[in-house]
Amino acid sequence: MKIGRIGILGMGKMGEALAKGLQSSTDSKLFAIKGTTRSKESAAEAAKRLGIECHTDNAKLAAESEVIILCVKPHQAESVVRSIAPRLSPSKLVISICASVTCEQIAAWLAGSSAASVAIIRAMPNTPCLIGEGMTVFSGGANASNAHLEIAEKIFGTVGRTATVEESLMDGVTGLSGCGPAYIYLIIEALSEAGVKVGLPRKTATLLAAQTLMGSAKMVLERGEHPAALKDEVTTPAGCTIDGLMALEEGKLRVTLIKAVLAATKRSKSLRDNKI
Ligand SMILES: NC(=O)c1ccc[n+]([C@@H]2O[C@H](COP(=O)([O-])OP(=O)(O)OC[C@H]3O[C@@H](n4cnc5c(N)ncnc54)[C@H](OP(=O)(O)O)[C@@H]3O)[C@@H](O)[C@H]2O)c1
Repeated sequence: MKIGRIGILGMGKMGEALAKGLQSSTDSKLFAIKGTTRSKESAAEAAKRLGIECHTDNAKLAAESEVIILCVKPHQAESVVRSIAPRLSPSKLVISICASVTCEQIAAWLAGSSAASVAIIRAMPNTPCLIGEGMTVFSGGANASNAHLEIAEKIFGTVGRTATVEESLMDGVTGLSGCGPAYIYLIIEALSEAGVKVGLPRKTATLLAAQTLMGSAKMVLERGEHPAALKDEVTTPAGCTIDGLMALEEGKLRVTLIKAVLAATKRSKSLRDNKI
C-alpha cells in the first residue's frame, strides 16, 4: 500500500507534532500532509505555522487521503469517524491516537458504510513526539495487516521509537508511556528541588536532574542491559549511592511508580465507559 497522502484529523498538540515530524523526515517527499481542525481560526493558524493545507472539512480530507490519522479528543472521535465513513473506501488505513478508543469501537462506528472493511490501527504516542523523541505503540484492528502496521511504524517512526502490542495491553501502554512523561517531569522537578536543598542554583539543579535522567535512559536503551545491572555499576560498596538508594526504598519509590501506572491504566479503561 502506498502511503502518499496523509490526512490528520485534529491538528492540536499531537496532530501538529506528527505533521512536523513527517515534514522533517528524510522521507518527507514520500508524504503529502493535510490537516483539519474544528474551528476555521485554528485551521488558519495551523496552516500558517506548518505551511500545509488545513481546513475544517473532515469528509473531504478523508476522501483524498490514503492514510487518515484521527487526532481529536476521545469524546470527539465518534462523530468525526461517523462523518467520514461515507468517504472511506476499503483500501484506506485509519490510525487513531485517541486514548482509550478501541479498534472495535471505530469498526462499529463504520459498520454499515462502504468503510466497514477499512483497516484500523490504534496508536498511543506521547508528548516527546514534539521533539522527535516520542514512544508510539500500535495494535492492529480486524482488517489491519503487517503491511498496514509497517506504514504506521514508518509514519510514527519520524517522531520517535515504535512498538506493537496486543490491543488488550493498550490501556497499560497508556498508563506507562502515554502518561509517563508527566511522572518523569515530577521526578525531575523533585531531583531539582533536592539540588536546591543541597545548595545548587535552580537552573544548574534542573540541568543536572534532566541530563542525568536522559543519560541513564540512553544507557538502558543503547546497552540493552537490565536496569538493575546498570544500577549496580553506580553503587560502590559502602559508598554514597547505596545510602541514596536506601532512602528511596524507605520512601517506597518503586511501588509508588507501579501504583501510578496501575491507576492510570484503570482510568484509561474507565474512560471508555465515559465514567468521570
Ligand atoms: N497529549 C498527550 O499526551 C497525548 C498522548 C497520547 C495520545 N493523545 C491523544 O491524542 C488526541 C489529541 O490530543 P491533543 O493533546 O493533541 O488534543 P488537542 O491539542 O486538544 O487537539 C485536538 C484537536 O482536535 C481538533 N478537533 C476537535 N474537534 C474536531 C472536529 N470535529 N474535526 C476536526 N478537528 C477537530 C481541535 O481543533 P480546534 O482547535 O479547532 O478545537 C484540535 O486541533 C487525544 O485523543 C488524546 O487522547 C494525547
